[in-house]
Amino acid sequence: MRTFRERMMASAKRSRSRVVLALDITGPHQTRLARAEKVLDATMDRIAAVKVNHQLLLPYGLEGIARVVAKCHDGGLPIIADLKMNDIESTNLDIVDSLLAYGFDAVIANPFVGREEGLGGVIERMHAKGGGVILLVYMSHSGAREGYALRVAGKPLYRTFAARARDWGADGVVVSAKSPEKIAETRKIVGNNCLIFSPGVGAQGGAKLGAAPGADFVIVGRSITEAPNPRGALMEITPGLAA
Ligand code: XMP
Repeated sequence: MRTFRERMMASAKRSRSRVVLALDITGPHQTRLARAEKVLDATMDRIAAVKVNHQLLLPYGLEGIARVVAKCHDGGLPIIADLKMNDIESTNLDIVDSLLAYGFDAVIANPFVGREEGLGGVIERMHAKGGGVILLVYMSHSGAREGYALRVAGKPLYRTFAARARDWGADGVVVSAKSPEKIAETRKIVGNNCLIFSPGVGAQGGAKLGAAPGADFVIVGRSITEAPNPRGALMEITPGLAA
């Protein structure tokens, strides 16, 4: 059984891309699924993975997006659930069991909840089934500094979160593309076996497309999903993000 990290690297190599497509389709709920499939069809040979968030998961649920998951698997693309999971262990375990049953490869979780009776058992369960857990280290919106940069016990929380990712054996971390220095600090803490995923490129305005030096993967949503020509938008940013 290949690990989530191995599947991500294989997919990046095959697609020659380090873009994780955030399939965040908004607008009328009834039309989102069809539009998501269209964007996926247009881009799937040149992206490394797909990330879905509440824009699809709330209106449709796991059952409702089964075709999106199947499409990803047919194309060899890992699919990540961006739930920013943040609950007690029994609930977290039920969440990841559902995600695995519906074919998801990884989940994004919030390390704030802690390891004991929080995320420790979840990471073990995911690893036993070949899945991955990605922890939030520093988010990409401006208010991130109000939480992730708070100094607790003499250091900013994001450094504690990066150390948790390393110590808990997380498969990846999320660090904002708008903070290249935090990407570099995080890399020093987590080493090379933990993937760095970096959102905040493009629509969130801070970083230019192609930026996020030091990250393994860049998460891009609206710049692609809301473009009149999603493939064209992807190909425009791909030169800076080729694997
Ligand atoms: P845009 O449209 O801004 O979409 O390219 C970015 C996607 O990434 C999500 N996002 C985050 N997810 N940690 C995460 O786990 C973060 O720090 C973070 N910042 C943005 C966002 O919800 C959207 O799906």
